[in-house]
Amino acid sequence: MKFLNLILLSLLILSCKKNVFEHNNFIDIPNNFPLPVIPESNQLNQSRINLGKMLFYDPILSIDSSISCNSCHKQEFAFSDNKSISPGVKSRFGSRNTMSLANVVYYDAFQREGGVKSLEMQVLVPIEEHNEMGFNIILASERMLLHDKYVELSQIAYNRNPDPYVITRSIASFERTLISGNSDFDKNNLTLDQKNGKNLFFSNKLKCSECHSGFLFTNQNFENNGLYEIYNDFGRYNLTNQVKDIGKFKVPSLRNIELTEPYMHDGSILTLEDVITHYSKGGNYHINKSEHIKGFKISHKEKEDLIKFLESLTDYEFVSNNEFKNF
Ligand code: HEC
Ligand code: HEC
Repeated sequence: MKFLNLILLSLLILSCKKNVFEHNNFIDIPNNFPLPVIPESNQLNQSRINLGKMLFYDPILSIDSSISCNSCHKQEFAFSDNKSISPGVKSRFGSRNTMSLANVVYYDAFQREGGVKSLEMQVLVPIEEHNEMGFNIILASERMLLHDKYVELSQIAYNRNPDPYVITRSIASFERTLISGNSDFDKNNLTLDQKNGKNLFFSNKLKCSECHSGFLFTNQNFENNGLYEIYNDFGRYNLTNQVKDIGKFKVPSLRNIELTEPYMHDGSILTLEDVITHYSKGGNYHINKSEHIKGFKISHKEKEDLIKFLESLTDYEFVSNNEFKNF
């Protein structure tokens, strides 16, 4: 049902061709980050970002006006939350842990199976998803039409009245500003323990950086990290129907990982310590488990240092930045 809606509604939203946008004044790009790609059909400007921010915080997009994007994606938790599964409208629960929205401008594919190819398209998912906002984007834009402020802001931002085009593009614009690259790690401000943890992280013994690599600490691939012998949620298989994809999920970024517990697609691992224990034991047997998940010996002190290194990826300026708040 969700996918049928997606296909139908995609007809309402013009396709987004991606082109490199050289530079813009609306987002701060850290020196150690590449310039992001912004679709030419939805270039950033302040009125688009502001409208997207208003909508992100407005429960008007949910069927009973009770839930906004922010109900699950909270700034203090790097735009995820601290629950295994977050309730949607009418206290309905899905089966997945909320993902952080930090640095989403850099991703090629969204959701844990990677089936959604642009941020604009992704906006449809939570609005239409029964367990999230349980609504309909056309009805949501009709609600917006009843508010003069939204009509005015839509006209300024996109030169048209509120409609699915405006909702999806403005929210995507706001999300593209959520860049996080100001942690102690970025500032090269690591303690000795953290440096030790960093060496372990990138070591051949632990192999974390085989998957959690690059400036976002994700290679953006889909991997089976041995979480289960039998998966309830088949992950990327849901998209491809290929047996080799059972139990494969998008490799998550580890930026702000200290703030986004609990962990994994279902929020089943509660602490970073338990995550490391999972990897040190080599995970559970699964035919699709990555060859890089083999297990390793790690001392108590090494484990502590690795956790301290992961904590150096927390960007406190990001989680307190007033630009992202709803005033
Ligand atoms: C009820 C909680 C809830 C609400 C409300 C919600 N989300 Fe999410 N969001 C999630 C969950 C859970 C996931 C992970 C889905 C998955 O695992 O595939 C997610 C994933 C995402 C992603 C994908 C991130 C990535 O790296 O692939 C984006 C983007 C996103 N949400 C944006 C939004 C926007 C925009 C809104 C409001 C229109 C919103 N969400 C409303 C829970 C929620
Ligand atoms: C084969 C690729 C791979 C390797 C190697 C790997 N990971 Fe992961 N990691 C993943 C995948 C895939 C997930 C998400 C699984 C899921 O959603 O169920 C994940 C999840 C995590 C999470 C939870 C993230 C979140 O937001 O829920 C942490 C923390 C983590 N890994 C740390 C590490 C550390 C530390 C190492 C090295 C000891 C490591 N990983 C090695 C692929 C890998």
